[in-house]
Amino acid sequence: MKIALGVTGGVAAYKAAELVRRLQQEKLDVQVVMTRAAQEFITPLMFAALTGQKVITDMFSAAGAAPANLESAIEHIAVAQRIDLLLVAPATADILGRFANGIAEDFLSTLYLATKAPVIVAPAMNVNMWEHAATQENLAKLRARGVHVVDPDEGYLACGMTGAGRLAATETIAREVCDVLGLRHDLAGHTVLVTAGPTCEDLDPVRFLTNRSSGKMGYALAEAARRRGAQVILISGPTELKIPESVDWIPVRTTEEMRRAVLDRAGSASMVIMAAAVSDYRPAAIHDRKLKRGEGHLTLELEATPDILKELSREKRGAILVGFAAETDRVAENAKDKLERKHADMIVANDVTQEGAGFDTDTNIVTMYSRDGREISLPKMDKFEVANRILDRVLEIHKQSK
Ligand SMILES: Cc1cc2nc3c(=O)[nH]c(=O)nc-3n(C[C@H](O)[C@H](O)[C@H](O)COP(=O)(O)O)c2cc1C
Repeated sequence: MKIALGVTGGVAAYKAAELVRRLQQEKLDVQVVMTRAAQEFITPLMFAALTGQKVITDMFSAAGAAPANLESAIEHIAVAQRIDLLLVAPATADILGRFANGIAEDFLSTLYLATKAPVIVAPAMNVNMWEHAATQENLAKLRARGVHVVDPDEGYLACGMTGAGRLAATETIAREVCDVLGLRHDLAGHTVLVTAGPTCEDLDPVRFLTNRSSGKMGYALAEAARRRGAQVILISGPTELKIPESVDWIPVRTTEEMRRAVLDRAGSASMVIMAAAVSDYRPAAIHDRKLKRGEGHLTLELEATPDILKELSREKRGAILVGFAAETDRVAENAKDKLERKHADMIVANDVTQEGAGFDTDTNIVTMYSRDGREISLPKMDKFEVANRILDRVLEIHKQSK
């Protein structure tokens, strides 16, 4: 795969050389694009030597020369079409501003507008520049457009100040690149069982009880695990989502069907992630004819459905067990309580009343609670990114349990 690495004018530009090496380990073909300011910090020669390719340093470097072909005449369009990803590391406050506002006054900012490939930016700057409302507003705009942002680390900065602004570690940036391109293989050899979507509990031949789960979180987990090399079993309640490729997809309707499917297959899984919104109750009786309208109230008697997670943990099959808790109040208490009651290894909790979290959104805001007492709260993120962070943690717990 081919990626363009944009290097912009900050002290961290020297770290881009190491990043090139790391990306080449992933067998990526790296085309470096430098801004004019970047060339004040590090020479194009360095990147040309590392990549064995000409470094693009100027929009108009070939202007005036008779182009050999159309491609060399309009290079930014040719590069834009050729790449699978645009990564900018380090990204200055300035380039974030230009990207956010559609200003295309050099090669890199023009490339950003011209490419349909995914874009990752890894900002690095002085802490005050990072915290400035202009920078944060630009980043919010870019995030809303689907640009992936690798947040800077906190620490001692080149300017002598301490705070957020240091370019994220090479490994963190490389990991994001691999995630976006679907290249991570750290789950190879694992079988991951994921449940997703709602369950439906019949009341009569035409009516049923269900919930508002869209299945997006579970499907994102299945897709992320597959991309990272796992064999994936996806047991899904009814959803409108496209069936992910290359996963063992098992459609179910009721909690009992989901229970049977999970218990039948959990034996082969090293990780079980129960992201489905399973009905807690079902009608005590299923009427074989449609219930007719009558006078006054109708009272439904409900009975508890089987608790799949608890049943699974009781059987102690050795897999890492992860449950989800969609809460509307007392999120932390309920999640910790669930962790204990269900003997799970981890509970992923979200407050579904928060904007950008819970049912039928493309983003989620979650906190992960694990048995070792660690609590990891993630900011609002795309569900695919949340899925990867959950899988990172599950893999960590799996390694610790060995
Ligand atoms: C010594 C020095 C260090 C700088 N470091 C940074 C930096 O880390 N981050 C940043 O956003 N700007 C930094 N700047 C400012 C940028 O170089 C400046 O905004 C420039 O216009 C960026 O151009 P570019 O985005 O086209 O690379 C630095 C400037 C100097 C002189």
